[in-house]
Amino acid sequence: MIVHVHEMSKHPDAVYIGRECSGRGRGPSFTRSQWANPWNWKTLPGGRAEAVALFRRWLAGDLEAAAMLPPGRWPRPTVEDIRRELAGRVLACWCGPGDPCHGHVLAEIANGDPSSAAKQIAVVHPPAFEVVVGDCVNVLNAMPAGTADLVVADPPYNIGIDYGDGRGADELPSYRYAGMVREWMLAIERVLSPAGTLWVVCDSAYGAAFDRAIVEAGLTIRDRGVWHESFGVWRRGLFGKCWRPWFYAVKDRRRFTFNEAAFMVRSRRQEIGDRRANPAGKVRSNVWTFSRVAGTFRERVKPPAGEKPPTQLPLAMVRMVVDGFTNPGDLIVDPFTGTGTTGVAAVQTGRRFVGIELRETWAAVARQRIEAATADVTERRDPHD
Ligand SMILES: C[S@@+](CC[C@H](N)C(=O)[O-])C[C@H]1O[C@@H](n2cnc3c(N)ncnc32)[C@H](O)[C@@H]1O
Repeated sequence: MIVHVHEMSKHPDAVYIGRECSGRGRGPSFTRSQWANPWNWKTLPGGRAEAVALFRRWLAGDLEAAAMLPPGRWPRPTVEDIRRELAGRVLACWCGPGDPCHGHVLAEIANGDPSSAAKQIAVVHPPAFEVVVGDCVNVLNAMPAGTADLVVADPPYNIGIDYGDGRGADELPSYRYAGMVREWMLAIERVLSPAGTLWVVCDSAYGAAFDRAIVEAGLTIRDRGVWHESFGVWRRGLFGKCWRPWFYAVKDRRRFTFNEAAFMVRSRRQEIGDRRANPAGKVRSNVWTFSRVAGTFRERVKPPAGEKPPTQLPLAMVRMVVDGFTNPGDLIVDPFTGTGTTGVAAVQTGRRFVGIELRETWAAVARQRIEAATADVTERRDPHD
């Protein structure tokens, strides 16, 4: 069975299990700490490998093996619990190659029992990301409605940047550009899940057009903010250009994800050693200072031969957006993928990603970049190790 990334949250039988997964989705929840990791790896001399071997034996009914596992925080499920819970379901996991996936172990146990009335359990490894080539409005409209938990949008700025079709393609009369912005926002609103979020950044000249289009598409703006680019663009006879507006909007003003921890900064009280200071810091203001990714920066992705580099968002800022507005396992869509920064942030934090990019060459660059970031994640040790 092939399940596309953007269909996963719609899959009626899906149980999400795996690396960063918090057990979201329909059906029973399997949180990593509750089911897949009910012990502390570190206390076993053989570490993770030994724990996995014991886990297998225990699931096969070997209670001696269970006793050898260090106690965990949660009551352990019995083999019968597992069979009952998983019968006829699809396990979707994002474990990496060589990383023993508990989803597989569970499926193996339940499927291997001839006396069990349990239906076969399929384990699918959906790709964690896809980059689709095409115009974002067409692609978004072809996606199932209500599936994206977060849309991160960094559209063309209409300031004469050559994305491959000449500067003129990005210097439209403002009424035409505003019309495109409206089309984008309608298509984005359609794919957002009921508790979905939009974060969009644009040029300072078009803030009003975006503000209006977001509201007219039916979204609620929770905040308007500024990205202060600490390494802005110097202009002769004019002030340096160093800010862009951003908009944070939600589909339902009462239901959304806002993980405060992602936005924490040191407070002034902490800095001056005030004992009343919250040790966790404070939620940052809506003026975000991040350096622009200038042409000379190591982070900057090299353009393929004959291509002009598109603008590139700083990964640290996009990671904060992804961490703050979604949870692991959520689906993130970037309709203007460019070099794939949002995809990198998504796979690094255990989210799924669908990117859309007009130009095949940049889509290929983005795929490569996200693939490399996925490999990095596979290398990263499980935090429970
Ligand atoms: C501002 S750049 C995005 C850069 C990206 N945020 C990054 O960090 O690399 C805009 C990108 O959108 C693409 N694009 C422009 N119009 C598009 C459309 N209608 N549908 C899909 N992609 C589009 C451009 O080719 C360009 O790569």
